[in-house]
Amino acid sequence: ACYTKVEKDTCIACGACGATAPDIFDYDEEGLAEAILDGNRGITEITGDLEEDLIDAEEGCPTESIQVSDQPFETPVTNK
Ligand code: F3S
Repeated sequence: ACYTKVEKDTCIACGACGATAPDIFDYDEEGLAEAILDGNRGITEITGDLEEDLIDAEEGCPTESIQVSDQPFETPVTNK
């Protein structure tokens, strides 16, 4: 399993990731990609077929803006 978010500073809105992994990535009003599962926070575990789509999207991004990690990008907020 892994986690993902988009580095919007380097995304050039090419559109490849949303075509490759439409269940993971969509675009904001400027056309920049973002992970839709958790508001681009990179805290939702991605498994199974979605993980395969994610790796394809990561490899297909021309600017390497799709960040993938085996750890969450943020520590989930807990109460107290
Ligand atoms: Fe941006 Fe890369 Fe997707 S440039 S639109 S994150 S494939």
